[in-house]
Amino acid sequence: MGSPNPDIRVLADVAGEAAELFARYLSGCIDARGVVRVALAGGNTPRPVYERLARSPVGEVVNWRAVEVFQTDERAVPPSDADSNWGMLEDVLLGQVEVAAAGRHRMEGEAADLTGAAARYEAILHERIGGGAIPAFDLILLGLGEDGHTASLFPGTPAIDEAKRLVVANPVRQLDSTRLTLTFPVINAAREVWFLVTGSGKADAVRRVAGERDMSLPASRVRPGEGRYCWLLDRQAAAGLPQGVTRCSGVLRFTQGPT
Ligand code: 6PG
Repeated sequence: MGSPNPDIRVLADVAGEAAELFARYLSGCIDARGVVRVALAGGNTPRPVYERLARSPVGEVVNWRAVEVFQTDERAVPPSDADSNWGMLEDVLLGQVEVAAAGRHRMEGEAADLTGAAARYEAILHERIGGGAIPAFDLILLGLGEDGHTASLFPGTPAIDEAKRLVVANPVRQLDSTRLTLTFPVINAAREVWFLVTGSGKADAVRRVAGERDMSLPASRVRPGEGRYCWLLDRQAAAGLPQGVTRCSGVLRFTQGPT
Protein backbone atom coordinates (compact mmCIF):
# COMPACT_ATOMS: atom_id res chain seq x y z
CA MET A 1 0.00 0.00 0.00
CA GLY A 2 1.07 3.56 -0.51
CA SER A 3 2.03 5.76 2.36
CA PRO A 4 -0.80 5.53 4.89
CA ASN A 5 -0.08 9.09 5.86
CA PRO A 6 1.05 11.92 3.64
CA ASP A 7 4.62 13.10 3.62
CA ILE A 8 4.24 16.73 4.69
CA ARG A 9 7.00 19.17 3.85
CA VAL A 10 7.10 22.83 4.88
CA LEU A 11 9.27 24.81 2.47
CA ALA A 12 11.02 28.10 3.13
CA ASP A 13 11.04 29.00 -0.58
CA VAL A 14 8.06 27.18 -2.06
CA ALA A 15 8.51 28.29 -5.66
CA GLY A 16 12.23 27.54 -5.80
CA GLU A 17 12.22 24.33 -3.79
CA ALA A 18 9.09 22.86 -5.36
CA ALA A 19 10.41 23.66 -8.84
CA GLU A 20 13.69 21.95 -8.01
CA LEU A 21 11.94 18.88 -6.60
CA PHE A 22 9.73 18.79 -9.68
CA ALA A 23 12.69 19.05 -12.10
CA ARG A 24 14.62 16.35 -10.27
CA TYR A 25 11.62 14.03 -10.21
CA LEU A 26 10.90 14.52 -13.93
CA SER A 27 14.54 13.79 -14.74
CA GLY A 28 14.50 10.67 -12.55
CA CYS A 29 11.44 9.32 -14.36
CA ILE A 30 12.96 10.07 -17.78
CA ASP A 31 16.20 8.33 -16.77
CA ALA A 32 14.17 5.34 -15.61
CA ARG A 33 11.70 5.03 -18.48
CA GLY A 34 12.60 7.51 -21.20
CA VAL A 35 9.37 9.46 -20.78
CA VAL A 36 7.41 11.18 -18.00
CA ARG A 37 3.70 11.99 -17.94
CA VAL A 38 2.48 14.69 -15.56
CA ALA A 39 -0.90 16.28 -14.92
CA LEU A 40 -0.63 19.89 -13.79
CA ALA A 41 -3.03 21.91 -11.65
CA GLY A 42 -4.36 25.27 -12.66
CA GLY A 43 -5.23 28.18 -10.42
CA ASN A 44 -2.80 30.70 -8.95
CA THR A 45 -0.68 28.73 -6.49
CA PRO A 46 1.45 26.79 -8.97
CA ARG A 47 2.23 29.76 -11.25
CA PRO A 48 5.48 30.78 -9.52
CA VAL A 49 6.59 27.15 -9.46
CA TYR A 50 5.95 26.75 -13.18
CA GLU A 51 7.74 30.06 -13.83
CA ARG A 52 10.84 28.86 -11.95
CA LEU A 53 10.64 25.51 -13.68
CA ALA A 54 10.66 27.25 -17.07
CA ARG A 55 13.79 29.25 -16.28
CA SER A 56 17.40 28.27 -15.91
CA PRO A 57 19.03 26.81 -14.01
CA VAL A 58 16.21 24.70 -12.56
CA GLY A 59 14.51 23.67 -15.78
CA GLU A 60 17.76 22.92 -17.58
CA VAL A 61 18.06 19.49 -15.96
CA VAL A 62 14.85 18.35 -17.67
CA ASN A 63 14.82 16.85 -21.15
CA TRP A 64 11.51 18.54 -21.96
CA ARG A 65 11.11 16.62 -25.21
CA ALA A 66 10.56 13.49 -23.09
CA VAL A 67 7.82 15.17 -21.03
CA GLU A 68 4.10 14.78 -21.73
CA VAL A 69 1.96 17.47 -20.08
CA PHE A 70 -1.68 16.91 -19.19
CA GLN A 71 -4.19 18.91 -17.14
CA THR A 72 -5.93 18.06 -13.88
CA ASP A 73 -8.90 20.19 -14.80
CA GLU A 74 -10.10 23.03 -16.99
CA ARG A 75 -12.70 25.72 -16.94
CA ALA A 76 -15.40 25.92 -19.64
CA VAL A 77 -13.51 28.57 -21.59
CA PRO A 78 -11.18 28.69 -24.61
CA PRO A 79 -7.41 28.72 -24.00
CA SER A 80 -7.34 32.42 -24.89
CA ASP A 81 -9.57 33.27 -21.91
CA ALA A 82 -7.93 34.76 -18.80
CA ASP A 83 -9.53 31.98 -16.72
CA SER A 84 -8.08 29.18 -18.83
CA ASN A 85 -5.72 26.85 -16.99
CA TRP A 86 -4.13 25.84 -20.29
CA GLY A 87 -3.67 29.49 -21.16
CA MET A 88 -1.83 29.96 -17.88
CA LEU A 89 0.36 26.91 -18.52
CA GLU A 90 1.20 28.21 -22.00
CA ASP A 91 2.06 31.65 -20.59
CA VAL A 92 4.32 30.60 -17.72
CA LEU A 93 5.74 27.21 -18.76
CA LEU A 94 4.86 25.65 -22.10
CA GLY A 95 5.77 28.75 -24.08
CA GLN A 96 9.30 28.54 -22.65
CA VAL A 97 10.19 24.83 -22.77
CA GLU A 98 10.59 22.31 -25.56
CA VAL A 99 7.68 19.98 -24.77
CA ALA A 100 6.83 18.43 -28.14
CA ALA A 101 3.49 19.24 -29.76
CA ALA A 102 2.59 15.56 -29.41
CA GLY A 103 3.25 15.83 -25.68
CA ARG A 104 0.90 18.73 -25.03
CA HIS A 105 -2.55 17.45 -24.01
CA ARG A 106 -5.05 20.26 -23.56
CA MET A 107 -8.56 19.72 -22.22
CA GLU A 108 -11.08 21.22 -24.64
CA GLY A 109 -12.70 23.71 -22.29
CA GLU A 110 -14.25 25.54 -25.22
CA ALA A 111 -16.24 22.49 -26.40
CA ALA A 112 -19.99 22.93 -26.67
CA ASP A 113 -20.30 19.28 -25.63
CA LEU A 114 -18.11 19.00 -22.51
CA THR A 115 -19.17 15.42 -21.89
CA GLY A 116 -17.79 14.52 -25.31
CA ALA A 117 -14.63 16.51 -24.55
CA ALA A 118 -14.18 14.55 -21.31
CA ALA A 119 -14.55 11.25 -23.16
CA ARG A 120 -12.01 12.33 -25.78
CA TYR A 121 -9.56 13.30 -23.04
CA GLU A 122 -10.03 9.96 -21.31
CA ALA A 123 -9.23 8.23 -24.61
CA ILE A 124 -6.01 10.29 -24.81
CA LEU A 125 -5.01 9.05 -21.35
CA HIS A 126 -5.40 5.46 -22.51
CA GLU A 127 -3.61 6.14 -25.79
CA ARG A 128 -0.67 8.13 -24.38
CA ILE A 129 -0.21 6.45 -20.99
CA GLY A 130 -1.92 3.09 -21.39
CA GLY A 131 -0.92 0.45 -18.88
CA GLY A 132 -4.23 -1.25 -18.24
CA ALA A 133 -7.62 -0.24 -16.87
CA ILE A 134 -6.45 2.98 -15.25
CA PRO A 135 -3.46 4.79 -16.75
CA ALA A 136 -0.89 5.73 -14.11
CA PHE A 137 0.52 9.24 -14.31
CA ASP A 138 4.07 9.60 -13.06
CA LEU A 139 2.97 12.69 -11.17
CA ILE A 140 -0.23 14.59 -10.54
CA LEU A 141 0.26 18.06 -9.08
CA LEU A 142 -2.83 19.28 -7.23
CA GLY A 143 -3.94 22.46 -5.53
CA LEU A 144 -6.43 22.79 -2.70
CA GLY A 145 -9.38 25.13 -2.38
CA GLU A 146 -10.43 26.66 0.95
CA ASP A 147 -13.58 24.52 0.66
CA GLY A 148 -11.46 21.38 0.38
CA HIS A 149 -11.87 20.89 -3.37
CA THR A 150 -9.03 19.71 -5.56
CA ALA A 151 -8.82 19.68 -9.34
CA SER A 152 -12.47 20.53 -10.10
CA LEU A 153 -13.83 18.03 -7.59
CA PHE A 154 -15.92 20.40 -5.51
CA PRO A 155 -18.00 19.53 -2.42
CA GLY A 156 -21.47 18.28 -3.28
CA THR A 157 -20.79 17.83 -7.00
CA PRO A 158 -21.46 14.58 -8.90
CA ALA A 159 -17.83 13.97 -9.93
CA ILE A 160 -16.62 13.32 -6.37
CA ASP A 161 -18.50 9.99 -6.39
CA GLU A 162 -17.41 8.96 -9.91
CA ALA A 163 -15.93 5.48 -9.62
CA LYS A 164 -15.46 4.46 -13.27
CA ARG A 165 -14.81 7.35 -15.62
CA LEU A 166 -11.37 8.96 -15.45
CA VAL A 167 -12.38 12.35 -16.86
CA VAL A 168 -15.80 13.99 -16.55
CA ALA A 169 -17.66 17.22 -17.16
CA ASN A 170 -18.64 18.22 -13.63
CA PRO A 171 -21.47 20.72 -13.06
CA VAL A 172 -20.32 22.98 -10.21
CA ARG A 173 -23.38 24.70 -8.80
CA GLN A 174 -21.26 26.91 -6.55
CA LEU A 175 -19.63 28.40 -9.65
CA ASP A 176 -22.69 28.26 -11.87
CA SER A 177 -20.44 26.51 -14.36
CA THR A 178 -19.31 23.12 -15.62
CA ARG A 179 -15.67 22.08 -15.35
CA LEU A 180 -13.64 19.29 -16.97
CA THR A 181 -11.77 17.30 -14.35
CA LEU A 182 -9.79 14.15 -13.64
CA THR A 183 -11.62 11.91 -11.16
CA PHE A 184 -10.37 10.16 -8.02
CA PRO A 185 -9.83 6.75 -9.68
CA VAL A 186 -7.15 8.13 -11.99
CA ILE A 187 -5.71 10.50 -9.35
CA ASN A 188 -5.29 7.60 -6.94
CA ALA A 189 -3.65 5.44 -9.60
CA ALA A 190 -0.74 7.88 -9.99
CA ARG A 191 2.81 6.96 -8.99
CA GLU A 192 3.07 10.24 -7.12
CA VAL A 193 0.50 12.84 -6.04
CA TRP A 194 1.78 16.15 -4.72
CA PHE A 195 -0.41 18.83 -3.19
CA LEU A 196 1.08 22.32 -3.50
CA VAL A 197 -0.62 24.72 -1.08
CA THR A 198 0.36 28.17 0.17
CA GLY A 199 -1.13 30.99 2.22
CA SER A 200 -2.91 31.31 5.54
CA GLY A 201 -6.30 31.16 3.83
CA LYS A 202 -5.73 27.46 3.14
CA ALA A 203 -4.49 26.53 6.66
CA ASP A 204 -7.87 25.26 7.85
CA ALA A 205 -8.41 23.11 4.75
CA VAL A 206 -4.85 21.73 5.05
CA ARG A 207 -5.44 20.89 8.71
CA ARG A 208 -8.71 19.11 7.89
CA VAL A 209 -7.41 17.22 4.84
CA ALA A 210 -3.72 16.53 5.48
CA GLY A 211 -3.91 16.55 9.27
CA GLU A 212 -7.29 14.95 10.01
CA ARG A 213 -8.42 13.40 6.71
CA ASP A 214 -11.88 14.90 7.16
CA MET A 215 -13.82 12.90 4.56
CA SER A 216 -16.42 15.63 4.25
CA LEU A 217 -13.83 17.46 2.14
CA PRO A 218 -13.27 16.07 -1.38
CA ALA A 219 -9.46 16.36 -1.26
CA SER A 220 -9.43 13.81 1.59
CA ARG A 221 -10.41 11.19 -1.01
CA VAL A 222 -6.92 11.51 -2.54
CA ARG A 223 -4.98 8.49 -1.35
CA PRO A 224 -2.77 6.99 -4.06
CA GLY A 225 -2.99 3.21 -3.71
CA GLU A 226 0.63 2.33 -4.43
CA GLY A 227 1.93 5.81 -4.94
CA ARG A 228 3.72 8.38 -2.89
CA TYR A 229 1.60 11.18 -1.52
CA CYS A 230 3.15 14.44 -0.47
CA TRP A 231 2.21 17.95 0.64
CA LEU A 232 4.44 20.87 -0.24
CA LEU A 233 3.42 23.79 1.96
CA ASP A 234 4.59 27.16 3.08
CA ARG A 235 4.54 27.93 6.79
CA GLN A 236 1.26 29.85 6.54
CA ALA A 237 -0.61 26.96 4.94
CA ALA A 238 0.92 24.52 7.46
CA ALA A 239 0.00 26.63 10.50
CA GLY A 240 -2.96 24.46 11.49
CA LEU A 241 -1.03 21.18 11.51
CA PRO A 242 0.10 19.61 14.78
CA GLN A 243 3.76 19.87 15.74
CA GLY A 244 5.88 16.92 14.70
CA VAL A 245 4.95 16.69 11.06
CA THR A 246 7.93 16.68 8.75
CA ARG A 247 9.15 20.23 8.64
CA CYS A 248 11.93 21.02 6.28
CA SER A 249 13.58 24.15 5.17
CA GLY A 250 16.11 24.26 2.45
CA VAL A 251 16.17 21.77 -0.38
CA LEU A 252 14.37 18.60 0.50
CA ARG A 253 15.76 15.12 0.43
CA PHE A 254 13.62 13.64 -2.30
CA THR A 255 13.63 10.43 -4.22
CA GLN A 256 14.85 10.68 -7.79
CA GLY A 257 11.66 9.36 -9.26
CA PRO A 258 10.20 5.90 -8.94
CA THR A 259 12.50 3.18 -7.64
C1 6PG B 1 -8.37 25.31 -10.78
C2 6PG B 1 -7.52 24.31 -10.04
C3 6PG B 1 -8.09 24.21 -8.66
C4 6PG B 1 -7.09 24.95 -7.79
C5 6PG B 1 -7.69 25.32 -6.47
C6 6PG B 1 -6.75 26.27 -5.72
O1 6PG B 1 -8.84 25.03 -11.89
O2 6PG B 1 -8.51 26.40 -10.21
O3 6PG B 1 -7.23 23.19 -10.62
O4 6PG B 1 -8.30 22.95 -8.15
O5 6PG B 1 -5.96 24.11 -7.60
O6 6PG B 1 -8.92 25.98 -6.72
O7 6PG B 1 -6.65 27.44 -6.51
P1 6PG B 1 -5.56 28.57 -6.18
O8 6PG B 1 -4.22 27.93 -6.38
O9 6PG B 1 -5.84 29.65 -7.18
O10 6PG B 1 -5.79 28.98 -4.74
